[in-house]
Amino acid sequence: MASQLVPCFHITVVLLCFTVGRSDISCRNEAGEAVDWFIIYKLPKFRIGEVGSGVEYMYLDSAAGSWQRSKFMVNTTQGAMANTLNQLYKGKVYMSNSSVYALYNDGAPHQKYIRTYGHTKGVLLFDHSQGFWLSHTVPHFPSFPERGYQYPSSGKHNGQTALCVTYQYSQFLSIAQQLVYVYPRFYNCSVPTAFSADLPQLLQLCEGSRPPLTANKGVKALFSVSGDKFVSFAKSEHFVDDIYTGWVAQVLGADLLVQTWQTQGRELPSNCSLPRHTMNIKRTVLPPSVQFESHYDHSKWCVSQAYEDQVVCLGDLNRVKTQMLRGGGLICSYNPVIYKAFRKAVDWYISC
Ligand SMILES: *[C@@H]1O[C@H](CO)[C@@H](O)[C@H](O)[C@H]1NC(C)=O
Ligand SMILES: *[C@@H]1O[C@H](CO)[C@@H](O)[C@H](O)[C@H]1NC(C)=O
Ligand SMILES: *[C@@H]1O[C@H](CO)[C@@H](O)[C@H](O)[C@H]1NC(C)=O
Ligand SMILES: *[C@@H]1O[C@H](CO)[C@@H](O)[C@H](O)[C@H]1NC(C)=O
Repeated sequence: MASQLVPCFHITVVLLCFTVGRSDISCRNEAGEAVDWFIIYKLPKFRIGEVGSGVEYMYLDSAAGSWQRSKFMVNTTQGAMANTLNQLYKGKVYMSNSSVYALYNDGAPHQKYIRTYGHTKGVLLFDHSQGFWLSHTVPHFPSFPERGYQYPSSGKHNGQTALCVTYQYSQFLSIAQQLVYVYPRFYNCSVPTAFSADLPQLLQLCEGSRPPLTANKGVKALFSVSGDKFVSFAKSEHFVDDIYTGWVAQVLGADLLVQTWQTQGRELPSNCSLPRHTMNIKRTVLPPSVQFESHYDHSKWCVSQAYEDQVVCLGDLNRVKTQMLRGGGLICSYNPVIYKAFRKAVDWYISC
C-alpha cells in the first residue's frame, strides 16, 4: 500500500508548488500573502523622548484595520516591502519578457540627484494580468535588480512612507499616462515587445526619452483589483505651483492637513488664500504614542481636516518653493481605514 501512496504524495506536492508558483503579481503583506494595498510608515530615528534604530516601521492594510507595529525591520528580507519587491528580485523576474518593470527615483542608488526629472520615487511590476505600483519617499531605493532587496542607510534617519496598490493590467495604461507628466527617472526597467504597442510612453521613458506632453497636469481614477478607488494627481514642471494648495485641495474640495519635509527657510507656510485651505502638520503621533517632529519626517502625505471629506493622499512633493518647479504627484484614497489611520496621526498643525 505504502508504495502506492508515495506517487500520490508527489503529485500533491507538485500541484501545491504549481499553485503557489503561479500566484499573481501583487502587493504582499507581512506574511507574504497577496493584498489589495498596504501602507508602510517607517519611523524616524529621532522621536520625542526616544531614539530608535531608524528601521522600525508601522504597517497598515485593510485586514490590519489600524497601524500595527511591524515585528520586522525594513532593511531585512522579511516584511511587506521585501516580500513585494522580491517578486522582482527572486528568480530574475526582471529578465522576463512576460512582465514589465520600472524602478524610478530622482536619487537612484549610488548616484547623485538629477533635478531635471520629476521629484518622484517608485516601482512598477506587472504582467498581462496584473501587478503592483509602489510609490514611496525613500532616497536611493530600491536596489538594482541584480543586487537583491537592500534598504539604504540614507533612508534610515528620517520618517518615510510607502503605498503599494495591486491593479489589473488595464490600470497600468492609465498609470503610464500619469507618469508622463511627472517624468520619473527610470534607472532600471524593461518593457518587452509584447507590451510596447499598449505602452508606447512607458517604453520611451524606459529608453530614456521624454514622451510629448499635451497638458501640464492630469487626474485619473484608478481601481485596485478589489475595486477600491484611488485617484492619481500628476503634474509636470510646467505647472508651477504648490500641488497641495494650488490644485489638489481645490479639486478635492477639502481643507487639507499636510505633512511634508520642509527644510528651513524655503518652506511654504500654511495657506488659506484660496477657497480650500492647506495647513502644515508640525508633529505626528503613531500608536501607541510615538511622536515625532515634521523636521525628521521625509514622508509626504495629506489628510482632510474634516471627517466628512474622508480623503488621504500620499505622494512625491514637499511644500517648499523649489518643488513648485518639479514634476510629481499624489495618490488619493477615500478608504475609511486609511483615513482614520492618518487623521489620528495628526498631533499638531499650524492654522492660518
Ligand atoms: C539594519 O539596520 C540596523 C540599524 O541601522 C542595523 O543595526 C542592522 O545591522 C541592519 N541589518 C541589515 C540586515 O542590514
Ligand atoms: C520570450 O522569451 C522566450 C525564452 O527566452 C522566447 O522563447 C520567446 O520567443 C520570447 N518571446 C518574445 C515575445 O520575445
Ligand atoms: C541597473 O542600473 C545600474 C546603473 O545604471 C546598472 O549598473 C545595472 O546593470 C542595471 N541592472 C539591470 C538589471 O538593468
Ligand atoms: C497661497 O497659495 C496660492 C496657490 O499656490 C498662491 O497663489 C498664494 O500666493 C498663496 N498665498 C500666500 C499668502 O502665500
